[in-house]
Amino acid sequence: MPPSLPAVLPIQPFTRPVRGEVTLPGSKSLTNRALLLAALCKDRVVLTSALFSEDTHLMVEALKALGFTVNANADAGTIEVSDQANGFKKDAELFVGLAGTAARFLTALCVAAPSGIYRIDGIPQMRKRPMKGLIDALRSLGADVRCTGVEGFFPLEIHAKGLRGGEVAIDASESSQMLSGLLMVAPLADAPISIKLSAKVREPFVQMTKNMVNQFGGAADFNAVSGSWEVAKKSYTFAGTYAIEPDATAASYFTTLPLVTGGALMLLNLQQGLQGDTQFVEVMQRVGLTATSSPSGLEVSFAPGSIRTGISENFNEFSDTFLTLAAVSPLLSGPTRITGIAHSRKQETDRVAGMVRELRKLGQEVDEHADGDGLTITPRPLTAGVEIETYGDHRFAMSFGILGCHDLHGDGRPWLSIKDPACCAKTFPNFFDVLNSLRPFLIVAIDGGAASGKSSTSRALSERFNFLHVDTGSYYRAITAELLRRGLRTDQIDAVKAALPSITLGTQVDGRAARMEIGGRVVPESEIRGPEVTAAVSHFAAIPEVRSALLTYQRNQADVARAHGFGGMVMEGRDIGSIIFPDAGLRLFLHADPVARAKRRELEGRADAVAERDRLDATRKTAPLVLASGAIDIDSTYLNLEQVVDKISGLITEKLG
Ligand code: CDP
Repeated sequence: MPPSLPAVLPIQPFTRPVRGEVTLPGSKSLTNRALLLAALCKDRVVLTSALFSEDTHLMVEALKALGFTVNANADAGTIEVSDQANGFKKDAELFVGLAGTAARFLTALCVAAPSGIYRIDGIPQMRKRPMKGLIDALRSLGADVRCTGVEGFFPLEIHAKGLRGGEVAIDASESSQMLSGLLMVAPLADAPISIKLSAKVREPFVQMTKNMVNQFGGAADFNAVSGSWEVAKKSYTFAGTYAIEPDATAASYFTTLPLVTGGALMLLNLQQGLQGDTQFVEVMQRVGLTATSSPSGLEVSFAPGSIRTGISENFNEFSDTFLTLAAVSPLLSGPTRITGIAHSRKQETDRVAGMVRELRKLGQEVDEHADGDGLTITPRPLTAGVEIETYGDHRFAMSFGILGCHDLHGDGRPWLSIKDPACCAKTFPNFFDVLNSLRPFLIVAIDGGAASGKSSTSRALSERFNFLHVDTGSYYRAITAELLRRGLRTDQIDAVKAALPSITLGTQVDGRAARMEIGGRVVPESEIRGPEVTAAVSHFAAIPEVRSALLTYQRNQADVARAHGFGGMVMEGRDIGSIIFPDAGLRLFLHADPVARAKRRELEGRADAVAERDRLDATRKTAPLVLASGAIDIDSTYLNLEQVVDKISGLITEKLG
């Protein structure tokens, strides 16, 4: 799970074309199908590259509640299902949250159990999502399914007694997951099952289910002559490792990103496989995207100047991706017409109505089709300052997260925020981290002696480039103030070491400056700039344990900067280019002759033994102040602040390309 996403997340636009690789999460649809099928096999099955998200977690927990042994290892990306013979306890309570797949698949699974009483429920929004088609079909196969709330909806109580075979009709027009659930458990019935569709079903997900049923050892196929799905009575025989493909719907966001930012992205391991949502790439090609497939994945790019026309498209077969296109439609040159999505009104939220509302807030002209089946967006100038409502629907958060990467103001200033961004945990918990990791990020390390001008220079640079400013000297000062507050002296080294573990550090971002928190409180400037701290800081800073206590903390400031959407970080100190970030994109060393520096302090009216601090800093054993090899040395003796800042700005601009 992402560490902590704020309640409202401003999206930092990309000021330069995107470049890089994306590792996509495993497919939700494949993971939850494979989990159910694995539970129906006899031998151990290990899913690899599986998705770890709310929806798959709910499925895993439900299988465990039913008595199956499921071991999920998020670090390895594997989920192992074993000891299936002990599954199907006689009594279980299952909770499916808002996960449509878990809801439909588990209902079918419980009905197919030989015996037992199972209660299934979800969150209030789930109690409104369609279940009736599946419940009716299962009942006509002899199942005892009781709706304990409203007829046709969750919560359910199932009195299992296995499934009878034979003929059955199903209306899965509101959700093809209902047919998928039935298809997956059908091989367990007492006799072959023949399934007639009493209404049209969206095909691609059913094809995916059929392929997986067959991969796991079942035999299901559509018979064009009889017009029904025929499923043989057969045991699932699969054993061993089953690899989950990357999620094609999640891929749609990164397929669209280069349209918004320019540039190119490699979507690792994404191939034309079992998922219908891979069709989205073809839609985007008509909008100007270039896509190249290779064994390593799919490379998507968008050359500047490609024609971004609006298009008319029926999204019925891959409707989860309609939001991805709709959200970026304001950037196209003509109207975008999306149809075939009436059923999406009954998904996580009414997606059509929600999309219409959010796009209108962004100043777009939107026509909600009278037949309820779609919308047409005519691009208008985008309205800045909009907070996007996400309705607990992960797809709103991610689609508009991509639009927010557009540099509306031309200077990298955020203009769009996402409410409740954490809702993307449903299928893609680290979506915003992945997005942030693609945003070009430059670390500028500035070292130098006392009063060499680092702080004013760094502050000016952070303003100019919208980078986070990290003054590590202020961190050593804050620690010093805390140690002094605890009554410790600079010669009590053992006592200092003993105190360090009890000092808890945090960071607060104040404008473009990072400030250290100790015990949850920002240490104020007034406490760290006084003569006592100034006299003691270099002594404490020479203690190796003090330095190592700050090492990881300082490196983590880059993540803080990224999480706040900064395009870079200026970190100043004594050992930044040598120890903390030896690989920084730009490493600088500022120096000025001692007379000039002493004079600067004098003008500031501050008592400071500059030369003495430099001596201590440069001669200590751990991380002494040095001109790191490869760092650029800048002599500021005869330059004013503006000249130094201009000089470094030139170097940064060069690095940023
Ligand atoms: O006052 P001035 O800006 O010159 O110094 P500072 O940046 O506030 O740093 C205060 C002291 O912290 C330095 O004299 C060093 O002893 C120590 N320090 C360090 O050892 N390593 C750093 N990366 C930053 C500061």
